[in-house]
Order: sequence, then C-alpha cells, then structure tokens
Amino acid sequence: MSDALGIALVGCGTVGGGVAEVLLRHRERLAQRAGRPLQLRHIVVRHLHKPREPFIPRELLTTDFYGVVLQDPNVHVVVELVGGTTVAREFVLAALAAGKHVVTANKALLAEAGPEIFEAARRAERTVCFEAAVAGGIPIIRALGESLAANQITAIQGILNGTSNYILTAMAERGLPYEEALREAQQHGYAEADPTLDVDGSDAAHKLAILAQIAFGVIARPADITRQGIDQLHPMDIRFAHELGYTIKLLAEAWTRNTTPPEGPRGVALHVAPVLLRHTDLLAQVRGAHNAIAVYGDIVGETLYQGPGAGRGPTASSVLADLIDLAVGRAQRTFAVARLWSNTDRGFVLDPPEQVHSRFYLRLLVADKPGVLADIARILAQHTISISSVVQHEAPENGGQLVPLVIVTHYAATGYFLDAVTQINRLSTVAAPAVYYSMGD
Ligand code: HSE
Repeated sequence: MSDALGIALVGCGTVGGGVAEVLLRHRERLAQRAGRPLQLRHIVVRHLHKPREPFIPRELLTTDFYGVVLQDPNVHVVVELVGGTTVAREFVLAALAAGKHVVTANKALLAEAGPEIFEAARRAERTVCFEAAVAGGIPIIRALGESLAANQITAIQGILNGTSNYILTAMAERGLPYEEALREAQQHGYAEADPTLDVDGSDAAHKLAILAQIAFGVIARPADITRQGIDQLHPMDIRFAHELGYTIKLLAEAWTRNTTPPEGPRGVALHVAPVLLRHTDLLAQVRGAHNAIAVYGDIVGETLYQGPGAGRGPTASSVLADLIDLAVGRAQRTFAVARLWSNTDRGFVLDPPEQVHSRFYLRLLVADKPGVLADIARILAQHTISISSVVQHEAPENGGQLVPLVIVTHYAATGYFLDAVTQINRLSTVAAPAVYYSMGD
C-alpha cells in the first residue's frame, strides 16, 4: 500500500462517521476514481471508549493527534471535522506545519482565520481543500473556482443554511412552532453544535465569506457581513408574505455595484437576511434542509445549484471528493494557482449594504385612526420611496385599537429606506419598532 493516500480523520461525529463509513465500505470504488487506494489510518476522538458505529475499527481510534497522527509519515492528509475555531485552528496549523494536506468542512474557521491558514499552507507547500464547508453536498466551491473560472461573477444569492431552511419550511408548510422545527432539524443532524450559529445567520455569513473570497477575492471577516437570522422572525410575517404571494427564505447575498466607476475598484456588498421571494422564484421552492445558490457570471449568465446542504451523507460526499482530488494531484495544482486568502487584488472592495437597492416589506403595528397611513406615506415620500401595495385587514368598528399594517415599497436604496424607518418608528401612532425585510424581484 505504499502508493496509498494515507488519511487521518479528526472527529468522528455525524460527518466524521459518514466519511469513515465511505472510506471503509467503498474502498474499491474510491481507489478506482483516485487511481490509488485511500487508506484510513487513524481516527482521532476525544473518548476512546464511547460506543461507536460497528464498522469503525477500534484499532484506528486514538486520542493523540500530536503523538500519533503527526508522527505517522504515511499520513498525507488530515481531515478536520471537529468544528469550532480554537482546537480546530491549532490542529490545522500543526498538520500543515508537519507537511500534511488538510481537508476541512469548517466554514467558521476559514471565515475567521482564512488568511493565516492559507498563508501557512503556502509556506508548507501543502493544500487546503474545503468543498464540504459550503452547502454540504453541492459542489459549489468547484463550480465557482473551476467550472466558472472564465467568468467575472457579478452576484451570488444563496440559501446556505439547511437548518434555517428546514425551520422556515416546517413553519410555513406545517405551521410548526419555531422551537419544534429547530428540534427536528437538530434530530436530523443538520444543526451546528451551537444552533445559534444556524438561526442567527452566522453560519450562512461564514459560508458567504468563503464564496466571496473565491468569486471576488475580498477577505470578508464575519463582522464585515451584516446579518439577520430567522430567530426573530414572527409567524405573522410568514402569513402576510404568503398572502402577498411570497415565501420567506434566509438568503446570503453578494451584489456587485451595477455602475462600474470609471476607475478604481468595484464594490461588492455582502449580507445575510430573511428575504421575501415570489412563490414562483426557484429559490423560493427550495425546501427542507436543501441549499441552493444562484450564481451570475458575465459570460455564462445565471446558473443555479441545488442539493442537500447539511447532514452526514452530503457532507461526506464533498469531503471524499476533496480526498480523491488530492490523491489524483488535481487539488494541489489548482490550489497553487488560486492564491486564496492572499492579498491578491482582484479589483473589488467591500461596499456597505446601504448602497444596495431593493423593494421592501414593512410591517408596522399602528393605531387604527385617521391620518396614520398618511403620516407614514408622507415619510416614505420624503425619502423618495414609492408604495407598491398596502395590506390592512378590516378591524372592529370601535376603532383606535392597534392593527398590523403591511406596506410593500417599490425599489429604494437601503440607506434611504432605513432613514425612513427610523422616522416612522418615532411616530406616536406606531406602537412597536417596524419589522422589515427586503424582497426579490
Ligand atoms: N449547520 C449547517 C446547516 C450544516 O444547517 O446548513 C452544514 O454547514
């Protein structure tokens, strides 16, 4: 087996177990696709004696990453599947320094420590592969980095968090309360160890930062990406959206500025937020834990990628693709050319999202009395924001009570819209802070 690619797995949870299972059960298929055997040599775990799936050979288990894995000259690749950004970072940097390639599914780590990790990889002349870090089983990293390489990407719109999409689908289609839908997503193994990262938009922001690095060369730290999750989403807004013909999806978006300035870099705005999409929009029809990404390229036009975005099998599928690419030697060649997370200037800078134009859904809780709608309309008009539709359900005749009022605007600059919302919130007839979401075309 001297020709084999030696592999050490670090972490044997949902995804680690899946990767081990494929490596052990599909040896021949993998060897044939890779041109050489993929040999699983060690599995690093925290507890040696914890019950494991029956196919995991006990003799492969170790708790000693530094003493066993890094000292084994026949380990060529470390697959990091522990998650988090502290221990995982140390393992990845140590693996690279010891001359091992790294495969990781850790989007938080890449988003937070990308420059450090990729610089360490270049120094060690080793490769970092991360197909599994974004959108689970969808080969979006290869699509952006290789298949669309001749294009300048102009926009990306993605459903990048399977847990949030599962929750939104369960709330909209089955009327499930938020907590119950989240529990189901956790039971299916879609959620992060800390599910706050899924539902507050952080996980999607990490993935967007990775896509933005490949598509635009910008180094976006998590703090650079404005984000809003689905944890504050009210079922009332799902219902109003439905009534208006829309579905709410948590979208991670990257928009390049439409007008290219005569000189200087182009701006790209990155943000994550719930967005109202028309029921007919293909992204609106992506259900459950599935992810989807629409990518706009200047040569190809619009392409759409859809598939399972979380869970054992899909993530393992992407990890295995990286291992095969390393065994073949493809990954090393692409990695050397791509110079990811270096400061290579590709002509883009991060734009504040206030510059993005959108239509908006605005829900207010207002006193049901004369002049209220007129006051709100006046503020919108003063900000040159035109109203496209208004929904207020008939209230009892005694008047004066609080009622929800939904306004849909025409296109407006986000900055102007936010100024208008600040003024609307100050009206004495507006009883609660405005709730607003942007809307697809
Ligand atoms: N927690 C992630 C999700 C898993 O729900 O999409 C894959 O990154």
